[in-house]
Amino acid sequence: MPTPTSPAIEALGLRKSFGEQLVLDGIDLVVPAGTVLALLGPNGAGKTTTVHILSTLLSRDAGTVRVAGHDLDDDPDGIRAAIGLTGQFSAVDALLTGEENLHLMADLLARFDLTESARKPASTYSGGMLRKLDLAMTLVGEPRVVFLDEPTTGLDPRSRHAMWDVVRSLVADGVTILLTTQHLEEADQLADRVAVLDAGRIVAHGTPAELKRLVPGGSVRLHLADRPTLATAAAAFPDGVADVEALTVSLARTPDLESLRVVLDEAERAGVVADRIEVASPGLDDVFLALTGHTTPTPTREVAP
Ligand SMILES: Nc1ncnc2c1ncn2[C@@H]1O[C@H](COP(=O)(O)OP(=O)(O)OP(=O)(O)O)[C@@H](O)[C@H]1O
Ligand SMILES: [Mg+2]
Repeated sequence: MPTPTSPAIEALGLRKSFGEQLVLDGIDLVVPAGTVLALLGPNGAGKTTTVHILSTLLSRDAGTVRVAGHDLDDDPDGIRAAIGLTGQFSAVDALLTGEENLHLMADLLARFDLTESARKPASTYSGGMLRKLDLAMTLVGEPRVVFLDEPTTGLDPRSRHAMWDVVRSLVADGVTILLTTQHLEEADQLADRVAVLDAGRIVAHGTPAELKRLVPGGSVRLHLADRPTLATAAAAFPDGVADVEALTVSLARTPDLESLRVVLDEAERAGVVADRIEVASPGLDDVFLALTGHTTPTPTREVAP
């Protein structure tokens, strides 16, 4: 039975091959209840394969899986009853009346901005509208664990933000979410923890902040009031990069207190008065590049039908 402390999703030593091709090479994923894990990875990394195994749609070669307290081998039906997975299962909630089911549908249509198109055949929907309908149907039945496989691919910025709001409100209600994404910003925005999947292995996991700290880099940028001050600052920091238009001098420094103190001391000694100081950490993009050696995954793709 699930206990308050048992994770909502636990996959250990998950392996999967398609024929000769090894797709998952022994991955571990543990998602505490009420949290969001973002599974981040490039095309072909094995994200969809993982989601399909965890949601009982695909068999695995090895590994143990528990979802919402149910073991995948002993009780796949228990898992199916607990999860929401985009568009795969009957959307009718058996515990509600027919009318309540329909009201729920109407609420979801409104939440996803689909009320106007609600009476049109779905065959006339755009890719983004279909995506939203799919997502709305995932949430019928109030699942406790939700799998979202690239939930915002193909959505316009407004719909993407609406989706993020939906995810946040689900989490506020205690729902556990595993989402896959190629959008680093999305992982940064939504996830408590991020697992980076590359070629069938988890190459890094942690909070977005922890992952950013793995990557050296970052900068301290001085914003100056005018060109004479800029010239003084540029002379005081010969390794800095001066931007005459922006009136800034950027220094490659680790974004911590000690480097900031050194910069401030040096500025004071040289009589440089900065208007503003900006300290930037490396982004998840930098993390991804450093960990996988690949370029950043393509941010936009066509939605698979
Ligand atoms: N049913 C299948 N039969 C054979 N190979 C498959 C099958 N499903 C997936 N694969 C292969 O497994 C690998 C991982 O695919 P998967 O769909 O899990 O990747 P993904 O991380 O979801 O990629 P994307 O970002 O493109 O959605 C790919 O090389 C893919 O070609
Ligand atoms: Mg996929």
